[in-house]
Amino acid sequence: MQKEDVIFRPDGDTIAKASHALQTGKLVAFPTETVYGLGANALDDKAVSGIFAAKGRPAFNPLIVHVPNLEAAQEYAHFNEAALKLARAFWPGALTLVVKRKADCPLSLLVSAGLDTVALRVPNHRLAQELLETSGLPLAAPSANRSGSISPTRAEHVQNSLGDNVDMILDGGACKVGLESTVIDATEDSCGFLRPGGIAKETIEKICGPLRVAGTDQNAPKSPGMLLSHYAPSLPVRLNATGANEGEAFLAFGKGYDKADLNLSLYGDTEEAAANLFAMMHALDRPEFSGLAIAPIPNEGLGLAINDRLTRASAGRNEEG
Ligand code: TXA
Ligand code: MG
Repeated sequence: MQKEDVIFRPDGDTIAKASHALQTGKLVAFPTETVYGLGANALDDKAVSGIFAAKGRPAFNPLIVHVPNLEAAQEYAHFNEAALKLARAFWPGALTLVVKRKADCPLSLLVSAGLDTVALRVPNHRLAQELLETSGLPLAAPSANRSGSISPTRAEHVQNSLGDNVDMILDGGACKVGLESTVIDATEDSCGFLRPGGIAKETIEKICGPLRVAGTDQNAPKSPGMLLSHYAPSLPVRLNATGANEGEAFLAFGKGYDKADLNLSLYGDTEEAAANLFAMMHALDRPEFSGLAIAPIPNEGLGLAINDRLTRASAGRNEEG
């Protein structure tokens, strides 16, 4: 079966076609610097609900809305001093700010999943920016994968995971950062750390001071993305492994392993490892292996976000995502 025709190499025509698709309520997957997003018009409840259906995602999980710049973000939400500082320091980039919706905010209430806040991000990717500009729409976009599976860092990952559930996939090659954005609660003067991601916690704290740990209550998550078992491959995952057991694939980090199927970063660079993480997990998630053994990764720099995703990948399966 030929399904290549949902993947489009981007040119002027493709962007115009994708913008039109979004304006008419369709779903378009597009690359960002972090991972591919499954985009829909964030002003349109029906289009946004299509995202939940396509991903098989629980409806209480709120979505990130992508906007072209800080000014656009301020049309929808209140930015306090801390939020402004962070936006100025890291946008466009792999930082998502949870801020209070304005009273007349026209964004679909579904993107906020019943909360009075909204998660906003300005992506640092030429194609994403062109799509935002040409469509003139704020775009709700979670990672473009079935709920609970590994996030996509290439167009083919999106197609393999979502199949016919997506109308168009814009191909921008491999994502540079390779991990979702860091999510910060900037609704109060002191900011909260909701999800580790593509910008290291230490880097953010240089701008806004120490971060509160927020959203870790599993029963009432302030950021439902904090639920366990979120980024799971089909194979069982074993962490802090020094090598493969019989039948397992081994994903190494750094030197000192004589037999590795793949290496996240031979020289132990956590940024390189983040960029490789999901693509390598996709590549090794194959039925000929009985499991996926992964070497220890230090909790420094992007290691914190990598270990967060790996802990979730190794946790018991549930229906979240
Ligand atoms: O890098 C990324 O962030 C990617 C790309 C496509 O931009 N998007 C992404 O979206 O990962 P998603 O929907 O998979 O993750 C959204 C995260 C979840 O952890 C969610 O719980 C949290 O943001 N979130 C969204 N809205 C929120 C809100 N109003 N309050 C608290 N957390 C929120
Ligand atoms: Mg996701």
